[in-house]
Amino acid sequence: MNILHLSCSPRGQAAESYRLARTIVDCLLKDVPEAIVVDRSLGEGGISHVDGNYAMAQHDAAAQINQEGTVSRSEVLIRELEVSDVLVIGTPMHNLSVPSALKAWIDHVVRARRTFNVTSSGKVGLLSDRPVFIAIASGGVFSGERARQPDFLTPYLKVVFGSIGLRDLRFFSVEGTGHGPEAVNEARARAERALQEHFSSAEFGTRSRCAH
Ligand SMILES: Cc1cc2nc3c(=O)[nH]c(=O)nc-3n(C[C@H](O)[C@H](O)[C@H](O)COP(=O)(O)O)c2cc1C
Repeated sequence: MNILHLSCSPRGQAAESYRLARTIVDCLLKDVPEAIVVDRSLGEGGISHVDGNYAMAQHDAAAQINQEGTVSRSEVLIRELEVSDVLVIGTPMHNLSVPSALKAWIDHVVRARRTFNVTSSGKVGLLSDRPVFIAIASGGVFSGERARQPDFLTPYLKVVFGSIGLRDLRFFSVEGTGHGPEAVNEARARAERALQEHFSSAEFGTRSRCAH
């Protein structure tokens, strides 16, 4: 089993979203110890914005395309995604949605005539489906009755990943990191309970505790 682990916070391994995503990776490894984990760190801006040549390729199927720059980087990132059996994304909420680092990665992998086709009835995804775990950290609360802000992150990811064929999305979150240490501890405990419940389901071979 290949696990592709994307870290999208500028805070790197100190990030709350990294902590939660890493717990998910550990749960998966407990189930399949021989799994190979590929860590791709995006949060510090390792992936630049797409270039003009790539924008032209997206715009016009007949355009003369230079295979360098974003097109070749896109190919590397798509292949990395294609060979993964499970995708784990650790991401903060930035301005109600995904951080720009994750958006830059999405712009590289959601690519016309490569990971989706445009048909008369809309986009058709070309990737085979696989579990996508999304670990979110947010300063405020965005879900449930205590939500005080709109959430454009989870609906956006559902639609954009759906457009390339990834529909098996599983969201976990530590919300309210800006509300003090007590609130953070409670939010972490809630997330770990949710993970525990998820990884105790029949889908996973291991029945032992996986959360820290
Ligand atoms: C540029 C920026 C925008 C942010 N926007 C939001 C937001 O819209 N909603 C929210 O709840 N928190 C927001 N936050 C706070 C982060 O989501 C919060 O600090 C989170 O714990 C960061 O996760 P990390 O430790 O994984 O980076 C924002 C933080 C930054 C740096």
